[in-house]
Amino acid sequence: MKDHLVIFDTTLRDGEQSPGASMTKDEKLRVARQLERMRVDVIEAGFAAASPGDFDAIRNIAETVKDSTVCSLARANEHDVRRAGEAIKPAQRGRIHTFIATSPIHMENKLRMTPDQVVEHAVQAVKWALEYTDDVEFSAEDAVRSDMDFLVRVFDAVIQAGASTINVPDTVGYSLPALWGERIRQLIERVPGSGKVVWSTHCHNDLGMAVANSLAAVMSGARQVECTINGLGERAGNASLEEIVMAVRTRQDIFSCETRLDTTQIVPASKLVSSITGFPVQPNKAIVGANAFAHESGIHQDGVIKHRETYEIMRAQDVGWSQNKLVLGKHSGRNAFKSRLAELGIVIESEEQLNQAFARFKELADKKHEIFDEDLQALMSDETVTPEQEHFKLVSLRVASETGEIPHARITIASGGTERKSEADGDGPVDACFKALERVADSRSELLLFSVNSITGGTDAQGEVTVRLAKDGRVVNGQGADTDIVVASVKAYINALNKLVSSPGKMNPQAQV
Ligand code: KIV
Ligand code: ZN
Repeated sequence: MKDHLVIFDTTLRDGEQSPGASMTKDEKLRVARQLERMRVDVIEAGFAAASPGDFDAIRNIAETVKDSTVCSLARANEHDVRRAGEAIKPAQRGRIHTFIATSPIHMENKLRMTPDQVVEHAVQAVKWALEYTDDVEFSAEDAVRSDMDFLVRVFDAVIQAGASTINVPDTVGYSLPALWGERIRQLIERVPGSGKVVWSTHCHNDLGMAVANSLAAVMSGARQVECTINGLGERAGNASLEEIVMAVRTRQDIFSCETRLDTTQIVPASKLVSSITGFPVQPNKAIVGANAFAHESGIHQDGVIKHRETYEIMRAQDVGWSQNKLVLGKHSGRNAFKSRLAELGIVIESEEQLNQAFARFKELADKKHEIFDEDLQALMSDETVTPEQEHFKLVSLRVASETGEIPHARITIASGGTERKSEADGDGPVDACFKALERVADSRSELLLFSVNSITGGTDAQGEVTVRLAKDGRVVNGQGADTDIVVASVKAYINALNKLVSSPGKMNPQAQV
């Protein structure tokens, strides 16, 4: 019998801390449902004390998700822990994850606390958390730069207080596999009562070592890994869930543990997170990159045709890559549409939402004969925008672009119950559209990123555009999809503008005391 390796997904918390990756409550719920479908053990749904919106999002997930533990992060103070406790209350299984920094640099400069005070806060936070749930996790932030004797002391104290998961983070992505494995091994050996708890690791990717360090920790006895879909996270990101899960599964000759994940849900989860956050997946990314299973070179192709395992160590279908399936077309009815959405895990809340979505599907099917799963996912991403979030809405667009002429855009936008028109010239059709939009919106934001990807193959594919805007230190990503990439670009820009208007800035739990 192998040990169980707990997969703790923090896409909705640490992943969301990445500038521009913030998600709405509905988007978070869609991701949480997909994580549950993938059979992730623990979903860290957010940081409840950040704002009423974050609290609601966690509660919403706690009310909905049944098969995964729902967790909220809390700094080691009474207010945070109680907010986390309230937020996870409806969950069938709820966890509070409390943390405090333990490295000299953090204790002295950020917390301005003595080591004794840090131990006191940690113990007290665990005790408060136990008033809400018996599933309490404690993390020593910046464990990588913490003194080993002090870590042993803090972990001993929180285990005695009742913490059942002990997480050892490499907060700044500083470690190397051999060192990290050794640190975890020593902690497990030295901390009294270490056999009563699950040891966990949480690694950042600043030196590109997050997955390697996490796996080294697992080889030293860690039985929980904290990770994110696509490795989303602040700076260079967190350890990537898909890489960890597939490494453990593929190298069962090495690992003495296994996960319970349905790995065929990995690619759908990756696509969902990428399309919601607007963070594209690089083509050569392991497991979920578009080229991860593409055998370009003639030699490889020949080998793979003769015997797949000559060059492939995993099967594409085991991680959820399928041939783009033609699912629906122009003549498909409402029932076929609804049931395909259900198979994709997209929940339709009301008859009205179904009608609207179906009307948009018909519009798309008129332009594009073959509708793939990815098209439906993009279509439904647009559907989740609520009227309160739709401050600006595209009414019409006319673009003139001709060789030798200056591109020109004329645009009509609905905002606050009135229609406003605007026109502009630009260096290209997209530039003209964005200038025209900015004349109406007057957002004074800075365009940080404009990227276009095709959702499926073929020249009739929908283009999926991401626009990243920054204003007053806030960063938002907007997405738009359409068979016309200029229209997709305008939709993405408007989506980003709406996020700037409607979503408040995020509070970073690690940047505050
Ligand atoms: O990186 C980190 O230390 C964290 C903790 C809050 C667990 O995200
Ligand atoms: Zn982190």
